[in-house]
Amino acid sequence: MYPITYPGEKVRMLYSVEAIAARVKALGEQIAKEYAGKDLLTVGILKGSFMFMADLVRAIDAPLEVDFLGVSSYGNHTETSGVVKITHDLSCDIEGRHLLLVEDIVDTGLTMRYLLDFLATRHPASMRLCTLLEKPSNARSEIEIAYKGFSIPNEFVVGYGLDYAGRYRNLPWVGVLEFSLTSG
Ligand code: PRP
Repeated sequence: MYPITYPGEKVRMLYSVEAIAARVKALGEQIAKEYAGKDLLTVGILKGSFMFMADLVRAIDAPLEVDFLGVSSYGNHTETSGVVKITHDLSCDIEGRHLLLVEDIVDTGLTMRYLLDFLATRHPASMRLCTLLEKPSNARSEIEIAYKGFSIPNEFVVGYGLDYAGRYRNLPWVGVLEFSLTSG
């Protein structure tokens, strides 16, 4: 059993380290091919994407630059309100550049809808999305996903950057968080 445990919570593995690495490698190869000769700027959406971003850019064997956008959503804890606060803006000027947004998960899609509209006002040459996970059954906004790791069922997932109340981000694989009546 993985040593990260919290009382009353258990994590059931959904995607292993190996499964994630294989998917990331395939996505990286596809991105390198499709962006050949283009001025690629990868933008990680913090915090959840930090681990996926680190692995993905190493899998893209092509010139690129890296930037990050920090966001937090207002509203209650269990559901995104769609109203997003920028906590850390990009450090690059994106006008005329080819942007690849890198997310850990597209759930309702409301965060990404806001970000796509917000970044479009800065006139990038193109803007596409790469997400490790998508929860299609929960979609509330139609988001075009150019590169996707896995489609997942409507369950609460943690690990590989994704958190529950700030915890589990350092779990090296993705799992479903389950609450048990007994602790441990
Ligand atoms: C998560 C995730 C996306 C968003 C997706 O971020 O990283 O940005 O939720 O949800 P949506 O599709 O329903 O809008 P979160 O607010 O948990 O912040 P974090 O990345 O810092 O963990």
